[in-house]
Amino acid sequence: MNRTLLYELAWILPSIAIPIGMLVAIVVTTFGMQIHVPTYAGVVRAQTVGETPPFDQPGVAQLGPGRYQVTLLAHTWAFQPNEIRVPAGSEVEFVATSRDVIHGLLIEGTNVNVMLVPGRITRMKARFPRPGEYLFICHEYCGIGHHVMFGKVLVEAAP
Ligand code: CUA
Repeated sequence: MNRTLLYELAWILPSIAIPIGMLVAIVVTTFGMQIHVPTYAGVVRAQTVGETPPFDQPGVAQLGPGRYQVTLLAHTWAFQPNEIRVPAGSEVEFVATSRDVIHGLLIEGTNVNVMLVPGRITRMKARFPRPGEYLFICHEYCGIGHHVMFGKVLVEAAP
């Protein structure tokens, strides 16, 4: 092999390997780790969201064995509910929106990191394999009380 060919290969091989590596990373994170952008889940009138199901009754509902749904309503400067209890090993779907301004929802130790936009519903799933306390916070600056806008997911040891 002459030197020119070796030099060409030194460029050609990485330029093939890098896109393949990126493709593998996308496939692994999407299908293996369930990391994806939040699903578009509809619209709701922000002015009347407090009277519109399911947001008229924010809280935790059990959908099946190990499956829960949390209806979460954000407003200045609190989450409703701000304490969520589920057993370890649960899969929890969050259905969330904001009543007033743009808020954020970040749950530590999970893949939940979304914006809550008035009028838009956000749907996001998270797994809680281990017991513990998982803080969730608003991470979009939303006014003077932004820093006190938080809650926690209490994951209890499975019976
Ligand atoms: Cu709500 Cu910051």
